[in-house]
Amino acid sequence: MSKRIFETAQLGSLTAKNRLVRSATWEGIATPEGGITPIGYDIYRELAAGGVGTIITGFTSVSDTDQYIDGMMRLSSDALVPQYRRLTDIIHEQDVPVLAQLALGGYYPTPTAEPVEPDDMTPAQIEHVIRQFVDAARRAEQAGFDGVQVHVAHFFFLSRFVSPAANHRTDEWGGSTANRARIVCRIIEGIREAAPSLHVCAKVNCTDLVAGGIEEAEALELCRIYVQAGLESVEVSGNGTSVAGVRPGVGEAYFGRFGALAAHELPIPVMLVGGMRSSGTIQSVLDHTGIEFVSLSRPLLREPDWPNELKEGTSSQSACISCNRCYNTPAHRCVFRLRG
Ligand SMILES: Cc1cc2nc3c(=O)[nH]c(=O)nc-3n(C[C@H](O)[C@H](O)[C@H](O)COP(=O)(O)O)c2cc1C
Ligand code: SF4
Repeated sequence: MSKRIFETAQLGSLTAKNRLVRSATWEGIATPEGGITPIGYDIYRELAAGGVGTIITGFTSVSDTDQYIDGMMRLSSDALVPQYRRLTDIIHEQDVPVLAQLALGGYYPTPTAEPVEPDDMTPAQIEHVIRQFVDAARRAEQAGFDGVQVHVAHFFFLSRFVSPAANHRTDEWGGSTANRARIVCRIIEGIREAAPSLHVCAKVNCTDLVAGGIEEAEALELCRIYVQAGLESVEVSGNGTSVAGVRPGVGEAYFGRFGALAAHELPIPVMLVGGMRSSGTIQSVLDHTGIEFVSLSRPLLREPDWPNELKEGTSSQSACISCNRCYNTPAHRCVFRLRG
């Protein structure tokens, strides 16, 4: 059946007003405890009003000792729940479902300790990580989120743990694909049990882009294993995530081949992220593959209201030139918007 960008679409039990998703975009604006600052609320108010159908928050750490990147939001303490409730209320005012991207950059036993890599973790530390994800999801449910996205991409902690390039364990947590996937399965199962109202999505790598890492065949096998554990949707990404130089008609939809394969093979909705810069390409992805949702990061930094413009027909191309300078600006603002 043909799909249109601007029609209601089901993400599991969630109803989105269109097929555009705001892909997780770390803003770097949270307090050291992971609280949301006024600028954070403003960013999400603007995004929700801009017409996107579903929002995924930026990197939201499940741990209060994670020091991997600056200014992360965190769902690591019950005391933070009211701040996140305010965030979901702001987004829901525009009738937009919101998923918290639950993530761990690195496993830091204490805030000042060095991170411990998958190979060196004790079984108790692995169980601790699983508990942290499940507890964060429980808080997300209390805060009014519609779902969570488990971040298993871009070589952050879980992405390293499932990769044969970074996990050389010989116990039940390493070796075979199923053993490396076990930590993610336990997290998915734990979330489904502890926070049953939440939609559970994962963002995954279709390629690790490193020797001995995950490539497409294993990426698909991992997704199948996650589905067995209860995963309800998947966002296809990969290392080398924000490719530079992509423009309308140039290098768009760069993970599209694997996205199409995943949509063909998996019984759950697939979102495709990476380099969508024109309505023509987005509609073509929807027309020619089983992909049901298209995710945008940099185009919404450049123009948070691009979805409204697409819908009204006042734009068909993103003004983002994929220069990646937004990685180094305050609140990761687009440099062109900083200039006014
Ligand atoms: C400033 C910035 C921050 C990002 N933060 C995250 C993040 O928190 N979590 C994540 O999974 N991806 C993050 N990404 C990657 C994007 O979600 C997306 O996968 C990538 O930029 C490709 O999509 P695009 O071409 O629409 O930008 C970030 C990208 C940018 C530019
Ligand atoms: S700085 Fe602006 S134009 Fe450059 S990649 Fe970021 S959003 Fe796009």
